[in-house]
Amino acid sequence: MKNLNSKKILLIICGGIAAYKSLEIIRLLKKSGSKVKTILTNNGKNFITPLSVTSLSQEKVYTDLFNSDNESEMDHISLSRWADLILIAPATANTISKISYGLSDDLASTVVFASDKKIFIAPAMNVRMWENQSNKDNLKKLIDFGHEIIGPEIGEMACGEYGKGKMSEPEVIINHINNYFKNIENNKRFKALVTAGPTHEYIDPVRFISNKSSGKQGYEIARSLNENGFDTTLISGPTNLSSIKGVNLIKVKSADEMLEATLNSLPTDVAILSSAVADFKIKNKEKEKIKKNSISELSLEKNPDILKHLSNHNSLRPKLVVGFAAETSSIKNNSLKKLSEKNCDWIIANDVSKDDIGFESDFNKVSIFYKNNSEENLPKMKKSNVANEIVNRIISQLN
Ligand code: PMT
Repeated sequence: MKNLNSKKILLIICGGIAAYKSLEIIRLLKKSGSKVKTILTNNGKNFITPLSVTSLSQEKVYTDLFNSDNESEMDHISLSRWADLILIAPATANTISKISYGLSDDLASTVVFASDKKIFIAPAMNVRMWENQSNKDNLKKLIDFGHEIIGPEIGEMACGEYGKGKMSEPEVIINHINNYFKNIENNKRFKALVTAGPTHEYIDPVRFISNKSSGKQGYEIARSLNENGFDTTLISGPTNLSSIKGVNLIKVKSADEMLEATLNSLPTDVAILSSAVADFKIKNKEKEKIKKNSISELSLEKNPDILKHLSNHNSLRPKLVVGFAAETSSIKNNSLKKLSEKNCDWIIANDVSKDDIGFESDFNKVSIFYKNNSEENLPKMKKSNVANEIVNRIISQLN
């Protein structure tokens, strides 16, 4: 498990019988060279003692939200800042529920609430609790938040029942985390470029032609690439979104500026063009604000096609060029046409005729068209999850 060496893992142990396996998780992490700090919830203390945890981790065990030893130290902030990754194992139905609702009434839930680090959750509970609709809804929310769920397994339980709900074995959990770090390490050699958002094509200094793109889909792709270790540049048209820590953000307004920024960012290994570039710009942009009665029609000219330009670049074409297709009808035919006409490698098609997916929404529903095959009608997902699906496929392709 060489990718765990020197990694800082914050382990949260909740109150379930599987807590005894957390001691083995600590032992395996330590053996692999990780530093381990532990939060033991009050319910967790009913199953294992702080002494056994501290003996194995060789670190103080954190239990309380308020630290009477050192009042200036806010553990929920300092622990989150310290960690490379947070692992909750076992995660009980109660803690899963608290995290999904954003409750923060103890140290464990408050750390999660205050953290922007990757969170892995290894649930453990009775099969009926696992199958309970509330639990399913809560888990769906956690997946949408971007947390990763490990297990649980099917097996015999401490309560004597048989079914799904058994916490995954420590080796399985450790392997999962090791692969996460390995993936990041491996992808550090790749450079990625993403375009996002609309373009503004100015008519005069105060008016422009644009479209409904919020930039959310492209920003999520850049976030996912960055989280997976890629050296990521995001070229963004005008949006209301915040910059992403670790991502090199280049702000542009028009299609011409977006093309220039794209070309200046080459070479990259992969380019994902999700921006909604205005197809036309104004032929003779006015320098002064146009008076209401002085104009009757606008003359337009075609904007450069950035995707086509990049896909046909002689010397600096990225290994993988991914375009999007925003369609309201004949999605498959139009996407295949774009794939061949623009000479890109994949087209991610989305239906933009509905309000709950595509433009502006937090959700999307996509089909992926490759040169020789396709994956059609992936389920409706949060844009963050669509981004993860795309990035997983990019990683497989580049490797
Ligand atoms: O931004 P959001 O609100 O999150 O919405 C996401 C989205 C709907 C904008 C996104 O998922 C999407 O579909 N982006 C592509 C929008 C688009 O302009 O599609 P298109 O079918 O017109 O263009 C096809 C491809 O060519 C796209 O990759 C586009 O970036 C590219 N293009 C288009 C025109 C042009 N002049 N230059 C280009 O590079």
